[in-house]
Amino acid sequence: MTERKGRLAGRRALITGASRGIGRAIAFRYAEEGADLLLTATGLEQLGDTLADCVSAGARVLTLAADVADRAQCEAMVQRAVEGLGGLDVLVNNAGIYKASRFVDYDPETFDRIMKVNTYGVFHMMQFALRHMAAAGGGKIVNIASTAGKWESLNQSAYNTSKHAVVGMTRCAALEHARDKVNINAICPGFVETDMIDQFDDHAEILGVSVEQLQTALVGRVPIGRMLQPVEIAHLAVYLGSAESDGMTGQTLTISGGMRMG
Ligand SMILES: NC(=O)c1ccc[n+]([C@@H]2O[C@H](COP(=O)([O-])OP(=O)(O)OC[C@H]3O[C@@H](n4cnc5c(N)ncnc54)[C@H](OP(=O)(O)O)[C@@H]3O)[C@@H](O)[C@H]2O)c1
Repeated sequence: MTERKGRLAGRRALITGASRGIGRAIAFRYAEEGADLLLTATGLEQLGDTLADCVSAGARVLTLAADVADRAQCEAMVQRAVEGLGGLDVLVNNAGIYKASRFVDYDPETFDRIMKVNTYGVFHMMQFALRHMAAAGGGKIVNIASTAGKWESLNQSAYNTSKHAVVGMTRCAALEHARDKVNINAICPGFVETDMIDQFDDHAEILGVSVEQLQTALVGRVPIGRMLQPVEIAHLAVYLGSAESDGMTGQTLTISGGMRMG
């Protein structure tokens, strides 16, 4: 077997929400950079295309269907990576959901589900991964938060609350595990062209505009004048999963095309 090269050569990575969008792009870039992978989503059938791309890039790839909102399934994901790949060096917490509503109208069940997937999913995954990484002598955790985890937004208070919590967890866990050589950082993307952006119809309806008008208005707020592509987030995730970022922990890196500088 030929030795694989790249910035992540020899690293074993678990990526949640790898079926499409940002997670799929991260999986492919990780495969290109030499990582072996455990890819997860809620169903195995959704992972077929990502699996094929990553295998063609030369990676050894396992897949698992699991819901990040379920603690037992999170434990099973980490266990599968450790047993199937021989260890876990990088965890990318990417799985996430979005649903717009005015704050006063939020149905508590929707609010709860967003918190369970976006916040508790990250909490469960980090706990199980950290126990393994601390004992194994180190690792990397990359949390895909959002600019919504740093600032205000209209009609998405559940999503923003869930992502602010991810930023908080990233900082606190990073502080506690710095001496374990586990680097924990968050990426805060702005608008990225994925299926999630296509779910803006409720948001547009509340504002009384069409989805196209809303998207045009959103892009108008981005200094570079366009939405980001998933691969642009993936490039940053490669850096945070590699030895190049060993000196960085507890950070929330914004990639937003210049929206809200500083
Ligand atoms: N797009 C943006 O503008 C943007 C901006 C900032 C941050 N983000 C964040 O980036 C991450 C990826 O978003 P995206 O835009 O790529 O969204 P997307 O295209 O909707 O993909 C979401 C991914 O999460 C998975 N997922 C959803 N619920 C899950 C659950 N309960 N358990 C396991 N996997 C689950 C989905 O898998 P299934 O196939 O199983 O549904 C899918 O792979 C999210 O955390 C999102 O909040 C996105």
